[in-house]
Amino acid sequence: MPRPLIAPSILSADFGRLAEELRAIEVGGADYVHVDVMDGHFVPNLTLGPPVIEWVRKATKLPLDVHLMIEDPDASIPQYAAAGADLISVHAEACTHLHRTLQLIRSLGKRAAVALNPATPLDSIRYVLGDVSMILLMTVNPGFGGQQFIDAVLPKIRELRALAPDLDIEVDGGIKPANIARVAAAGANVFVAGSAVFGQPDYRSVIGALRSGAESAAAAA
Ligand code: DX5
Ligand code: ZN
Repeated sequence: MPRPLIAPSILSADFGRLAEELRAIEVGGADYVHVDVMDGHFVPNLTLGPPVIEWVRKATKLPLDVHLMIEDPDASIPQYAAAGADLISVHAEACTHLHRTLQLIRSLGKRAAVALNPATPLDSIRYVLGDVSMILLMTVNPGFGGQQFIDAVLPKIRELRALAPDLDIEVDGGIKPANIARVAAAGANVFVAGSAVFGQPDYRSVIGALRSGAESAAAAA
């Protein structure tokens, strides 16, 4: 199984001090910056777009893990790629021609990933596993930070890990130091954490707690 990676979501950061927040997670040991893009249509919330991502790109050396919660992503993927995304996740529920969308991301030199809502079965990605660097399994319904982890996704994580032993499996929503070990034991290895990180006074210690929880479970698996 690939090694655990911690991806703080800036959705819960203080946007008035974004550069400082990005520095703090970088020195605190984060592996990726998770950037949540919401369009007010695919999800009932509106966040940020390519111009903000350009500033994030300038403010950190960490890879940018851009999670597009938007309808018709093909139209704007080139802009997200140009803004500095390293990895681009699109929702299977938002893509009519998912294979084509993944090829578009890869043709722009970026790593491609597919995100699935909690109720979406693995069947929708079974035939594109060879075209992705990562699968993102939502562990809350997308749209907001600070929601409760949905336990019913655990069997889906296990099933995907059995199907793809070497693939990065990212989980997003409700991940905390208190539950990360059992999510890692199910087979996830990339952990998004928004409110768990930015809600704390010391980012280094919470990122460390997340990593050691994930590593202990991975070692026991
Ligand atoms: C939810 C977003 C998440 C969110 C996670 O739609 O995709 O990335 O920021 O926040 P927490 O970790 O607070 O559940
Ligand atoms: Zn996200």
